Amino acid sequence: MTRIAVTGGSGKLGRAVVAHLLEHGYEVVNLDRAPAPTSPFASASQPSLQTDAGARPEALFVRVDLSDYGQVVQALTAVDDRYDGIDGLVHLAAIPAPGLTTNAATFANNVPSSYNVFAAAQAAGIDNVVWASSETVLGLPFGSNPPPSFPVDEEYPVRPSTTYSLGKAVEEEMARHFTRWNPDLKLIGLRFSNVMEVADYAAFPAFEADPANRAWNAWGYIDARDGAQAVRLALESTLTGFEAFIIAAADTVMSTPSAELAEKYFPKVPFRRPVEGTETLLGIDKARRMLWFAPTHSWRDHVPQD
Ligand SMILES: NC(=O)c1ccc[n+]([C@@H]2O[C@H](COP(=O)([O-])OP(=O)(O)OC[C@H]3O[C@@H](n4cnc5c(N)ncnc54)[C@H](O)[C@@H]3O)[C@@H](O)[C@H]2O)c1
Repeated sequence: MTRIAVTGGSGKLGRAVVAHLLEHGYEVVNLDRAPAPTSPFASASQPSLQTDAGARPEALFVRVDLSDYGQVVQALTAVDDRYDGIDGLVHLAAIPAPGLTTNAATFANNVPSSYNVFAAAQAAGIDNVVWASSETVLGLPFGSNPPPSFPVDEEYPVRPSTTYSLGKAVEEEMARHFTRWNPDLKLIGLRFSNVMEVADYAAFPAFEADPANRAWNAWGYIDARDGAQAVRLALESTLTGFEAFIIAAADTVMSTPSAELAEKYFPKVPFRRPVEGTETLLGIDKARRMLWFAPTHSWRDHVPQD
């Protein structure tokens, strides 16, 4: 069985990724500084992996502070009687947005942790790495900084406008150089849109009242389960080198057609191709083409429609 380490596996996106990888037959080790609230590892005594015959397999949890390089090397190599060797790595752990703490604290947690993860993966001989970049490197908020065209793509240089996003831009640049140093290495950066769980969808119909409130990311989102699909497809891809992909739902958070919204709120942004109905303005064409990404979840399936 292929063993995948998921950093940040206790978080919002991480929980969906861990569940999805387990469902697809992977053995999963969650490397996080805290267990997921619902995990059996949240209790004091750690049960061993897959204890009951026939029971749904659980991810193993190992408490790691990724800002400590030594801990990361050991976590990616072996942990006593728990495991010996990691085959692939998904790096999601981070302070996940601007403004959750001070700018310097966000940068000091996220960027050195990603350096440690990338460098320790190399030390441990792991060439298959997928990590969470962010839609913010596309220049969010778009209100004050419109994109060059719709659907937004990966073809223009990153333009972070917050310290959080600067960290993601630095990580993408680091990834470029790690892959230059090691041509066998795959480092795929997934530029996730705003991650949503089913419980979040109850708030969506209210967005319709004031579209300007969600213009900051061109009305994008990604269901955590589809984010997990993208992670698995990136892990399974035979690509090498650094690649960045926008990962968004196939639709927007709105009921108003996307072209109508764009015309009203971004009248100067040209369309590279027509978009249909409520199709996403955060282009997932590259992810569809190169990863076979095919999002299947929409908020519309969880909220009564008129
Ligand atoms: N949530 C979003 O809308 C969104 C959008 C784009 C990108 N992302 C990125 O996706 C990733 C996951 O986001 P999320 O929403 O699941 O975040 P989250 O806060 O729910 O989970 C992050 C996890 O990382 C862990 N963590 C943070 N720093 C750590 C460290 N130094 N050592 C060990 N563990 C650490 C936390 O304990 C937490 O469990 C992040 O990299 C984030 O930047 C999130």
